[in-house]
Amino acid sequence: MSNESFLDGLGFDTLAVRAGIDRTPFGEHAEPLFLTSSFVFENAAQAAARFAGDDPGFVYSRFSNPTLKAFQDRLAALEGAQACLATASGMSAIMATVLGLVKQGEHIVSSAGVFGATAQLFNMFGRYGVQTSYVPLTDAAAWEAAIRPETRLMYLETPSNPLTEIADLAAISAIARRHGVPLAVDNCFATPALQRPMEQGADIVIHSATKYIDGQGRVLGGAILGSDKLIHDTLLPVMRTTGPTLSAFNAWVLLKGLETLSVRMERQCASALQVARWLEAQPTVRRVYYPGLESHPQHALALRQQQAGGAIVSFELHGDDDASARMNAWKVIDGCKVLSITGNLGDVKTTITHPASTTHQRIGPEARKAAGIGEGLVRLAVGLESPADICADLTRGLTA
Ligand SMILES: Cc1ncc(COP(=O)(O)O)c(C=O)c1O
Repeated sequence: MSNESFLDGLGFDTLAVRAGIDRTPFGEHAEPLFLTSSFVFENAAQAAARFAGDDPGFVYSRFSNPTLKAFQDRLAALEGAQACLATASGMSAIMATVLGLVKQGEHIVSSAGVFGATAQLFNMFGRYGVQTSYVPLTDAAAWEAAIRPETRLMYLETPSNPLTEIADLAAISAIARRHGVPLAVDNCFATPALQRPMEQGADIVIHSATKYIDGQGRVLGGAILGSDKLIHDTLLPVMRTTGPTLSAFNAWVLLKGLETLSVRMERQCASALQVARWLEAQPTVRRVYYPGLESHPQHALALRQQQAGGAIVSFELHGDDDASARMNAWKVIDGCKVLSITGNLGDVKTTITHPASTTHQRIGPEARKAAGIGEGLVRLAVGLESPADICADLTRGLTA
């Protein structure tokens, strides 16, 4: 029996553990994992009806599986979206969104400071006749000026990766609405525990579920959220045909990850604020980027729009030139004995990386410069260790 009818009016933390449950006749308490490629039919007529979409049962796990449905329903409840489509990774969520909404001769407006692979994906769509214009995330006038008659998608991250810039969601979604262009927001850094972009006017939410939704660095996954019409009429056919589907096992891991999301975010955000304040007091640190700090240029907006500053803290090291700034950044990273040197984020284990030579290496020096990603920049994704231990680990490289 589905519990969906009992969910109206329940709070976020209740939905995180209760939404999406549809018990089998065995009455299992934990959510079941359906590891099956396909589903059997009672007869040929039922098979025909299922393939035609006239019978709502499951067919084939490329486009329908009960464990994926449970994950999709739970995440939709948490984001306040009508519908959700799970994907194999965050990148496949972005790819499917573009495939579904934009065709040859059409145009995307994206913020300049997006995840490196996202910018590369948009540039790759250039091969198929789709152009992308990049605008500063925080400049609403630039968003409006970049819209063309053939613009079919506006795309942004807030907070952005890695500089934690904050977009004014109400202002940019008002522009999108005025021009009839859907606005997609990558909500990977904030998660619905801190921010629900659709409540602020966005049409589409994108997730790399690989990050905080899993929360323990185990699996890849992604999701697209939006209206029933967008998800079922426009994007499901794209997913069904192209096949970048989330595996049932990964969906099950992510479903369980959602249960602890808000507890993890609360603690990781509190630790991140402590670490950010400590970094700001270090003489060898030139600048700290963290929305929870008063020094962040969009601090007031972040406080209005998000429930906390997030758990990503980036900081810039001094350097006389690019080479010495990079050397100083690498020194801090190499001095760490506890923190993990890895490109992933959102884990309960704190991770540290140098965006210019890792996550944002392949976009090239010019795009990095335009996005403000310098050679002295280090990105920290604060986990659940004691903040004092995180600071002590960073001290070695900072004082060397
Ligand atoms: C903000 C953001 N969006 C999307 C992605 C892509 O997600 P995935 O690695 O799950 O494909 C990442 C990955 O780091 C990211 O940081």
